[in-house]
Amino acid sequence: MAFTVAIDGPAASGKGTISRAVAAHFGFAHLDTGLLYRAVGRRTMDGVEPIEAARTLTREDLARDDLRTGPVGQAASRVASIPEVREALLDFQRAFSRRDGGAVLDGRDIGTVICPDAEVKIFVTASDAVRAERRYLELREAGHEVTLDETLADLKARDRRDEERAHAPMTAANDAVLLDTTEMSIDEAVARAVALVQEKQAG
Ligand code: DC
Repeated sequence: MAFTVAIDGPAASGKGTISRAVAAHFGFAHLDTGLLYRAVGRRTMDGVEPIEAARTLTREDLARDDLRTGPVGQAASRVASIPEVREALLDFQRAFSRRDGGAVLDGRDIGTVICPDAEVKIFVTASDAVRAERRYLELREAGHEVTLDETLADLKARDRRDEERAHAPMTAANDAVLLDTTEMSIDEAVARAVALVQEKQAG
């Protein structure tokens, strides 16, 4: 049986960690949709035209190990504003969301555009300062030489572009539950998300 959990929110809000934990808890499949845009953005850095890159994306493109870096994030955010790029990635995401056994998708437009009928919708937020700190620690951990200021500027530029684009902008669906993780530990945030899914499953 299909059961879809849509988790949206800005960069470094905690949505990825929450999504993975919810998927593991319920045995659902998980799709990090940002990775699709990152893989397209990465290909454009090699000179591939964005729409072409989206239409011919391969598993190898999704497996590159440099997709999480700042420059690739910016390239992803840029290609994500092109309607034909989003269109090319739509069917794959929808099919994934309705697979048997349940699915968690995280991104920017899952609750609004990709899965408007998702059984559970969560919009995860956190203050700019907290998000920048989390992303900074992640990047340093992965061995990238960045400063906290650069990381904050990078996040803000990306959020602005993602919120202001005309097509499928980042926004909470009307029926999404807002989860502000600024003052929450990851365990608390996951527990809250798990509880929301359980409430829905109980009907
Ligand atoms: O979630 P992320 O930071 O890996 O996403 C990278 C970029 O991809 C983000 O800045 C905007 C874009 N994106 C999108 O437009 N829609 C999605 N569903 C997921 C990501």
